[in-house]
Amino acid sequence: MSAQERLEQHRAAIEHWLHRCFDGRVPHGDLYDAMYYSLLAGGKRIRPVLLLESCRLCGGDPAGVYPFAGAVEMIHTYSLIHDDLPCMDDDDLRRGRPTNHKVYGEATAVLAGDALLTAAFECMLDGTSDIPSHRILEAAGILARAAGAQGMVGGQVLDMAGEGHSLGLSEVEELQRLKTGALIQAAAEMGCVLAGGTAEQRKALCRFASRLGLAFQIQDDILDVTGTESTLGKSVGSDAKREKTTFVTLKGLDECRCLVDRLTREAVESLQIFGAEGEGLCWLAHSLVSREK
Ligand code: IPE
Ligand code: IPE
Ligand code: MG
Ligand code: MG
Ligand code: MG
Repeated sequence: MSAQERLEQHRAAIEHWLHRCFDGRVPHGDLYDAMYYSLLAGGKRIRPVLLLESCRLCGGDPAGVYPFAGAVEMIHTYSLIHDDLPCMDDDDLRRGRPTNHKVYGEATAVLAGDALLTAAFECMLDGTSDIPSHRILEAAGILARAAGAQGMVGGQVLDMAGEGHSLGLSEVEELQRLKTGALIQAAAEMGCVLAGGTAEQRKALCRFASRLGLAFQIQDDILDVTGTESTLGKSVGSDAKREKTTFVTLKGLDECRCLVDRLTREAVESLQIFGAEGEGLCWLAHSLVSREK
């Protein structure tokens, strides 16, 4: 199986897992509909794929960590539902569909996000996993820190606070590191921890993911300017509308493209300790540079 096929297998597996994750739950109003509406709308699933492949690279069995990969995707999806709300980026299109609050109303969208966040921890801590419990606790702790005030939520606060006035490069870098980088890095680190990887493997994967996360958000900022709604499946021009400082406003498109290339090279270099086995993550990094959505 090629590295690319293996990543596609991870993606399909997590897609299947997400489709089943709330089976048997008793619906309260349209809450589960709203949760599934965004969760199953077909995102790229980069974070769970990164977790599964990092786990495999460190000698673990990806099939044993689906609830953890699914949990990361639940938290990412909740962050998107809340990011699109009128009180935040106020966007109408996400993953090719009207945004959650446009369909279910703001209150249900907020609650669907809350419920996805909570469900993520429920899935990881349901007591059915064969992974040693100290690894589960460590992985859940990594995700909690990356998702909260010291991570994604903290980054979103900086992002909102920066609207309407210009920020410096180091401020934008910090904001991006938190709002996007933290969750991406957590995915890689969790995969390693769950597999019982070495300190060296963990360091290499964290370095890889931190470069990848920054490249990923710069590419997101580029696509907000150059992309189309039909290809991206989400609103474009959102950053300019909200007067946000991004890498693109600070450095221009050409320099940003060079930066994405450089960060991707650095990310890939971090994988040297894995030798040929690192090919899957190299492929993932390269595929994100040229992505159009
Ligand atoms: C979008 O993330 C928000 C950012 C953090 C840049 P993705 O580009 O991974 O969105 P989906 O999951 O594919 O919809
Ligand atoms: C959102 O960043 C990051 C999170 C949701 C944490 P953006 O606001 O740039 O994401 P998009 O462009 O709406 O997907
Ligand atoms: Mg935003
Ligand atoms: Mg947004
Ligand atoms: Mg964006």
